[in-house]
Amino acid sequence: MKALVLAGGSGTRLRPITHTSAKQLVPVANKPILFFGLEQIRDAGITEVGIIVGDTHAEIEAAVGDGSALGIEPTYLRQESPAGLAHAVLTAAEWLGDDDFVMFLGDNLIEGGIGHLVEAFERDRPAAQVLLKAVEDPSRFGVAELDDAGRVVRLVEKPEHPPSDLALVGVYLFSPAILDAARRIEPSDRGELEITDAIQRLLDDGQEVRASLIEGWWLDTGKKDDLLEANRIVLGSVRRRVEGEVDHDSELVGEVVVEAGAQVVRSSVRGPAVIGPGARLEDAYVGPFTSIANDCVVERCEIEFSVLLERARVHDVARIEGSLLGRDVVVSRTQRRPSAHRLMLGDHGLVEISEP
Ligand code: DAU
Repeated sequence: MKALVLAGGSGTRLRPITHTSAKQLVPVANKPILFFGLEQIRDAGITEVGIIVGDTHAEIEAAVGDGSALGIEPTYLRQESPAGLAHAVLTAAEWLGDDDFVMFLGDNLIEGGIGHLVEAFERDRPAAQVLLKAVEDPSRFGVAELDDAGRVVRLVEKPEHPPSDLALVGVYLFSPAILDAARRIEPSDRGELEITDAIQRLLDDGQEVRASLIEGWWLDTGKKDDLLEANRIVLGSVRRRVEGEVDHDSELVGEVVVEAGAQVVRSSVRGPAVIGPGARLEDAYVGPFTSIANDCVVERCEIEFSVLLERARVHDVARIEGSLLGRDVVVSRTQRRPSAHRLMLGDHGLVEISEP
């Protein structure tokens, strides 16, 4: 069994955070989303991992490297354009050969690992196995229709009128039959070779496609609120570890991680929260469900339920909540006249000001 991890694509929905960088590397609890999937693959006993990369290949390759830190052996597979999930599978055809494989979307997080799924697939060897989860807004996803016996009869990609509330989770198990099916589909209305169409092709050919409902949480981190939710859930299992400097005037409450090289000065941190290496908090309050990445600075400010990426700096701002700040972002208060909000925002940025 091999693993194919999809880390290409353009990440338009999380822009401007991912205008120039890979959305799969946006951190959750200060760890790139992609690494959670790679660790679950390794924990299922799979070491041969093909990683589909696109325009952001240099960044992905720099982060994953030779895979030794994660216990995997990666092969980087360049996809010329993000032409769809089935196109990504075809891009990997030669590398996949005749092996079964688990396909893992690099921006998905699932609870509890994939070991049991891999075992069941290897035992029963259906042509494909998909994971489903009931969701409130199925039209954002691929959707499955099941018959009374729970068998998959139809799969549709982002339907306007979903036939059920069962969304396709971004983890799939395939026999090599999927390659032949992917070669026999046409691009969808959005111009992509859809994996849902390739699986539908297997169904139309009378091959066995199994579906299992997942019990635990599943997060597709494509949007800001999804990312904050993923961060909230993952921080829920963080345990207290303090390796950085915390002065006597500071207070840490609950599950707080202060990494080596971080400084907490006259501040209060209520967990769960993680403070990355080299970050500095001064006269600050950091509230629950907040991840502060490497080398951030938070001064004279309160921040809660938020994610700060590397080197973001926030100072003299009353309170920030439910926010995602990208790398090197600065949010500050100024005495300059005329008194006004001065902004420099990338395309698709969002600012909500609460003052009258
Ligand atoms: O998250 C689950 C959903 O993922 C499923 O319910 C859908 O059926 C499935 O099509 C997919 O939908 P998305 O629209 O969320 O896919 P997205 O374009 O975000 O791509 C998912 C991952 O695959 C992402 O990490 C980028 C990568 N990718 C995507 C495309 C289209 C590639 O590597 N190459 C590609 O060509």
